[in-house]
Amino acid sequence: MNNIAQLAWLVSGICFILSLGGLARHETARRGNLFGIIGISIAIAATFLSGKIAGGQIILVVALIVGGIIGIYYARRVEMTAMPQLVAILHSFVGLAAVLVGLSVFLGDHHQSFSATKFNESTVEESTLDLVSEAERLVANRQLISKIEIFLGIFIGGITFTGSVIAWGKLDGKIDSKPLMLPARHWINLLALLLCILLGYFFIKSGKMGMALLPLMAMLIISFAFGAHLVMAIGGADMPVVVSMLNSYSGWAAAATGFMLENDLLVITGALVGSSGAILSYIMCHAMNRSFVSVILGGFGTEGVTSDASTGEKKSHQTTSAEQVALALKEAREVIIIPGYGMAVAQAQTPIREIVDILKQGGTRTRFAIHPVAGRLPGHMNVLLAEARVPYDIVLEMDEINEDFPSTDVVLVVGANDVVNPGALNDPSSPIYGMPVLEAWKASEVVIFKRSMGSGYSGADNPLFYLDNSEMLLGDAKKSSDAILQALRALVPAK
Ligand code: TAP
Repeated sequence: MNNIAQLAWLVSGICFILSLGGLARHETARRGNLFGIIGISIAIAATFLSGKIAGGQIILVVALIVGGIIGIYYARRVEMTAMPQLVAILHSFVGLAAVLVGLSVFLGDHHQSFSATKFNESTVEESTLDLVSEAERLVANRQLISKIEIFLGIFIGGITFTGSVIAWGKLDGKIDSKPLMLPARHWINLLALLLCILLGYFFIKSGKMGMALLPLMAMLIISFAFGAHLVMAIGGADMPVVVSMLNSYSGWAAAATGFMLENDLLVITGALVGSSGAILSYIMCHAMNRSFVSVILGGFGTEGVTSDASTGEKKSHQTTSAEQVALALKEAREVIIIPGYGMAVAQAQTPIREIVDILKQGGTRTRFAIHPVAGRLPGHMNVLLAEARVPYDIVLEMDEINEDFPSTDVVLVVGANDVVNPGALNDPSSPIYGMPVLEAWKASEVVIFKRSMGSGYSGADNPLFYLDNSEMLLGDAKKSSDAILQALRALVPAK
C-alpha cells in the first residue's frame, strides 16, 4: 500500500506542477484549477490509504468536513476586492500549522522515539560493536537533522503566522497601512535574527527534552515578534509584494513540515509554492521598481518616505459629464482604458466592455492597459475583464502600451489612481516614487472615473487630476459607465 501511496503522491505532485503551468495564462487557468483539484483529491485519498494516519481517520474526516464547509462559505461570500485579505489570512494558517506540527513532532512520539533510540552495548556481541556505533552515529545524525527541521519549520512558521495576520489587518484597513518606523529597527531585526541563531545552537546542543524546549519556545516568541515587526515596517504601497512574499514563506513553512513528517508530497508542494511565491515577489518588485532585498528586510533603505504626499494645498480640477465623455469617445480614433481597484469595487467591467463593443463597431481602436499592481491582487484586472468577456488581444501589459499614450485621443481611467500617478516618476517624497506607472497624462484627453478627489491605496495625492487635459467624472464607476453607454447608444445607432 505504501508504494501505491508514494506513486499517488508523485501523481499529485505532477498535477500541482501542471496546475501552476495552467494558472499562468487566462486561457488555461480553468484547466490549471482542475489539475489542482485533482492533485489535492488524490493526495488526500492516498494519505488516508497510506496507513500513516492509522486511528486518526475519523478525526481527519470531521476536520475535513468542518474545514471544507467553512472554506466553501468564505469562498462564496468573499468579494473579489477582499481576496488579498483572505489570501493573507490563509497564509497565516499555513504558518500556524507549521508551528503546531513542529511542536507536536518535538513533543510527540516521533521525536521521543529518536531520543530513546540508544543501543545497550552489553546486549550485543563484541564483533557487532562497530556496526552498533555506526548505527548510533546514523541515529545521532538523523536526530540532529530532525532538530534542525523542527527549529527551522517553527521559525519560518512563526514569522509567516504573525506577518500574515498583520498583512491581513493592513489590507483590511484594521491596522494603519503606514509603515511603522521604530528607531534602529534594522538593528532590532538583526538582533532578533542573531538571537534565534544562538537559541538554535542551544536547542540542538541540549540533549534533554526539557532543556531543549526552553530555547525553542524563546525562539517561537521572537519569531512571532519578528514577523509582525517585518510587515508592520512595510508601507501600504509595497503590500502587493508582501502578500506574495508571505505566500513564498508559507510554502517554505509547508516544505519544512513535509521534512518533519517525512512526507514527500508536502515537500514538493511547499517547494513549488515557496519558489513560485519568491519568483512572483521578484517580478512584482521589478514592476514597482522596488529592491527585493529591501522589501523582504522590512522596507530596508526606505527611510524618509512618508505615506502621505498630500501637501494640503487647494488645487483646481475640471469635471465632466457622461454625455460629454460619450461625445469625446464618438469622435476619438484611439482610446485606451485603464482599469483599477475602483472598477472592481463598482463592478463596472460589463458596461465598460459594452462601450468597447460600440466603439469597435464605429472603427475606434480601443485597448486596455493593465498595470502589474492594479487592483489588489496579481492579475485582478485580467480576471475581471475575462469575466466580462473582453477579448484577450486588446488587453495589454504596461510595457506593451505605455509608449502609445501620446498618440491616444481619449484615456478612460476607471477607478485607477496610484497606477496613473505622475508623482511616482517625478516626486521623490511620494510613497510610490520610483514605481513605473501608466503615462496616461500624455494622451490628448484623460477622463478619471472616481467618487471623490481622495487618494488611492498608497495615500499619495495624484497630480494627474489637476492637469489641463484631465477631467473628473465623479460618481460610482458602474453608474458613470452605464450613463456613458446609454449616451453612446443614442449617438451611435446600432448596426
Ligand atoms: P488605487 O490606487 O487603490 O485607487 C483606486 C481608486 O478607485 C480610488 O482612488 C477610489 O477613489 C476609486 N474607487 C473606489 N471605489 C470606486 C467606485 N465604486 N467607483 C469609482 N471609483 C472608485 O487603485 P489602483 O490604481 O488600481 O492601484 C492599486 C494600488 O493597490 C497600488 O497602490 C498597489 O500597490 C496596491 N496594491 C496592489 C495589490 C496588487 S497585487 N494588485 C495588492 C495590494 C495593494 P474614490 O474613493 O474617490 O472613489
